[in-house]
Amino acid sequence: AAAEKGGYPTFMEKEIHEQPHAVADTLLGRTDESGALILDDLRIPEERLRRVERVTIVACGTAAYAGMVAKYAIERWTRIPVEVALAHEFRYCDPIVDESTLVVSISQSGETMDTLMAVRHAAELGAMTLSICNTHGSTIPRASDAVLYTHAGPEVAVASTKAFLAQITACYLLGLYLAQLRGETYADDAKAVLRELHAMPERIGRLLGRMDRVREMAEFMADTRSVLFLGRHMGFPVAMEGALKLKELAYIHAEGFAAGELKHGPIALIEPGQPVFVVVPGPDTPHDLHRKVVSNIQEIRARGARTLVIAHDDDEDVEPFASEVVRIPPCPPMLAPLLAVVPLQVFALHLASAKGLDVDQPRNLAKSVTVE
Ligand code: G6P
Repeated sequence: AAAEKGGYPTFMEKEIHEQPHAVADTLLGRTDESGALILDDLRIPEERLRRVERVTIVACGTAAYAGMVAKYAIERWTRIPVEVALAHEFRYCDPIVDESTLVVSISQSGETMDTLMAVRHAAELGAMTLSICNTHGSTIPRASDAVLYTHAGPEVAVASTKAFLAQITACYLLGLYLAQLRGETYADDAKAVLRELHAMPERIGRLLGRMDRVREMAEFMADTRSVLFLGRHMGFPVAMEGALKLKELAYIHAEGFAAGELKHGPIALIEPGQPVFVVVPGPDTPHDLHRKVVSNIQEIRARGARTLVIAHDDDEDVEPFASEVVRIPPCPPMLAPLLAVVPLQVFALHLASAKGLDVDQPRNLAKSVTVE
């Protein structure tokens, strides 16, 4: 078993370290010499894809947070409206779906019953169905019109890590591909985004090399009873995923919020010593969001929160208000989730280990939930 874990004490730690590969392998072979995207495995005729009027993403758990990241990217690059639905809710809300809707399911295992039933329901309503999946030949891709495989390799630990990064990568490819088919990207130059995407594995690797302080923070916080996570824009799903990892692995009460919601309620939770992770968007994020999140940090710090700030290397604005700063390598705002989530995974892993818990097999959870 030790050999299977490649020298790491747990599968989860091994899989966290495989993340640069998971992203690189998901990108591999999907561009031609001119830098244009080729998504061979999609079996939906281009003509039909060109006519997509809305996208609905269905997924559960971590995969649903990949879907939230996808919404920001696909809408920005294509201006097609994207909705993200939890698969188990989608089926029971009389979804508004027709022939012009592309229903994208995201599933590591390809066997999640709720997600499968959502795909079947969408197909019955006449939608085109596309599966983003990590497991070849599994049920959800077989039930779908098209498939875009993530190449994360087998994921053994129950809590998803490398599959999440691969799912986000596949969603970026899908967004750029739809933009390419429609003959325009609205907000960013698609080839430039692709080049940056290819630079992400190296950045993730570099980030993994500097997680010592995060590990110490986690060990130091082993008795913590509650941790909050704030993020905005693409940092919002990252905050949600950070909270989910901590619940799953360390059995600690953890909640993720959109930073803008703070003043509408959650700020009442802030009391002296309350640890709060804040995912700070890069300084060049649109709409001045960087400054807005920095002022959120200032607000909670003034109320005594222990601010654990995730910020880009060159971001000095956070220093005065941060109890701790975790630095991530700079990257374009739309790609930042691939980096920002990594310290949160590492934090949850080490906090759970410090509590003596089984990180690969947390209590009450299954890797793949094949019942409704
Ligand atoms: C279970 C796992 C989660 C996973 C979710 C969706 O709840 O414990 O880690 O995110 O299922 O799984 P899927 O295989 O569909 O991505």
